[in-house]
Amino acid sequence: MSKKICVIGTGYVGLIVSVGLSDFGNEIIGVDVDPDKVDMLNRGISPIYEPGVERYLKRNLETGRLSFSTDIDGSIQGSEVIIIAVGTPPKENGEADLSFVENVVKSIAANLNSYKVIVTKSTVPVGTNRWIKEKLEEYAPGKDFDVVSNPEFLREGKAAQDFFHPDRTVIGYESEKARDVIFEVYRSLNLITVPFVWCSLETAELIKYASNAFLATKITFINQMANLAETVGADIHTIAKTMGMDGRISPKFLHPGPGYGGSCFPKDTMAVVQTGDKYSVDMSLIRAVIEANDRQKSRMVVKLEKLLGGFSGKTIAVLGLAFKSETDDIRDTPALNIVEGILKHGGKIQAHDPKAMDNFSKVYPEVQYCHSEFDALKGADALVLVTEWNEYRNLNLEKAKSLMKGNIILDTRNLLDINLVREKGFIYEGVGRG
Ligand SMILES: NC(=O)c1ccc[n+]([C@@H]2O[C@H](COP(=O)([O-])OP(=O)(O)OC[C@H]3O[C@@H](n4cnc5c(N)ncnc54)[C@H](O)[C@@H]3O)[C@@H](O)[C@H]2O)c1
Repeated sequence: MSKKICVIGTGYVGLIVSVGLSDFGNEIIGVDVDPDKVDMLNRGISPIYEPGVERYLKRNLETGRLSFSTDIDGSIQGSEVIIIAVGTPPKENGEADLSFVENVVKSIAANLNSYKVIVTKSTVPVGTNRWIKEKLEEYAPGKDFDVVSNPEFLREGKAAQDFFHPDRTVIGYESEKARDVIFEVYRSLNLITVPFVWCSLETAELIKYASNAFLATKITFINQMANLAETVGADIHTIAKTMGMDGRISPKFLHPGPGYGGSCFPKDTMAVVQTGDKYSVDMSLIRAVIEANDRQKSRMVVKLEKLLGGFSGKTIAVLGLAFKSETDDIRDTPALNIVEGILKHGGKIQAHDPKAMDNFSKVYPEVQYCHSEFDALKGADALVLVTEWNEYRNLNLEKAKSLMKGNIILDTRNLLDINLVREKGFIYEGVGRG
């Protein structure tokens, strides 16, 4: 039987969860503190760029099963399942900031008018769901509820695909009643035989951090190998491809680049180190990954500076600002380090990104934002490719050469054909292409 569900927070995760669960036939009210976001969503406009999401948004608004509101109290009261999807950004010391979650928990406590299952989708450190349970017991004594941990694994840019076809769904739970409710919420996934992992609250919480820390480690591993390959004259792509042929390794996440970014890997690796510190457990491997990733980002700036012989008075075309392609998200994107490095040392930037320029311009208004990649290339001394947008892979090199003043390319994603680029008269550097 379909469920009445309140999704609190309609950002990258909350929005896809709202439209996805509504598409499964549930009745969803998405709640956000941002009235502009709520207004846009009710008009069928997605506040973020995420392929496919607007189609699902419109389709489900039309059925009447999906709506959005700023009324958190009424929305909680009218729902049996409450999904927490607010942000858990890093604090100064790397710990996850749970203040948004805490505010939501207070609202839930004030509106527990009937049995409810509180589902935590936000990425939260081990022990948080138990803490939520204790807080609810304290704020709303005697009320009937269950707490479930249901971490989200979607990738921005592929969120719809990941929501409807997840590799697995993880449910940390403690009561059979809650298990039955969650089973109904995800009935459609069960029907398409997605593996469900039913486990304890703590196990579910740690699965999420372990997964992200592992992926961040894999990226950092191949980046360090790429740096070595480049120094000794070896080719990282042949190395990575061959490593990936080993079934124990798998070819995914072995692509070298400018260092991982985004809203998850940097903050989740820091949070897991903080959790280790809290319980006096050695997390030196993940600590080393964080440090190596920071150095990888700086390495891109140093490489570019060397190629150019200094940034002062130079114009650099930066193609790609988002932390990866198919998103407008710029949280912790390597482009932030590259842009900061160039500007700090007196360079001028002409930038282009198909979707992320609005977000980036709020942080760096001094950058010149261009309508096309070719506008960005006009009069540039160097080109730095930062995001792997498809449209940059087939860059018209002849046109680029004719527009640029200089002939330097730093390709931090290894998008271009190295031989072709050099044939056209460019000085080219990638990552790990010795
Ligand atoms: N973005 C991803 O790819 C991704 C993937 C998996 C897990 N996660 C996790 O999911 C969580 C959410 O991430 P996100 O990227 O969607 O964040 P986000 O910043 O895009 O969205 C959070 C939303 O919550 C709203 N909000 C904050 N406080 C609120 C309140 N009290 N009531 C109602 N709304 C409130 C904000 O206005 C915002 O719209 C985080 O814990 C994150 O680590 C994110």
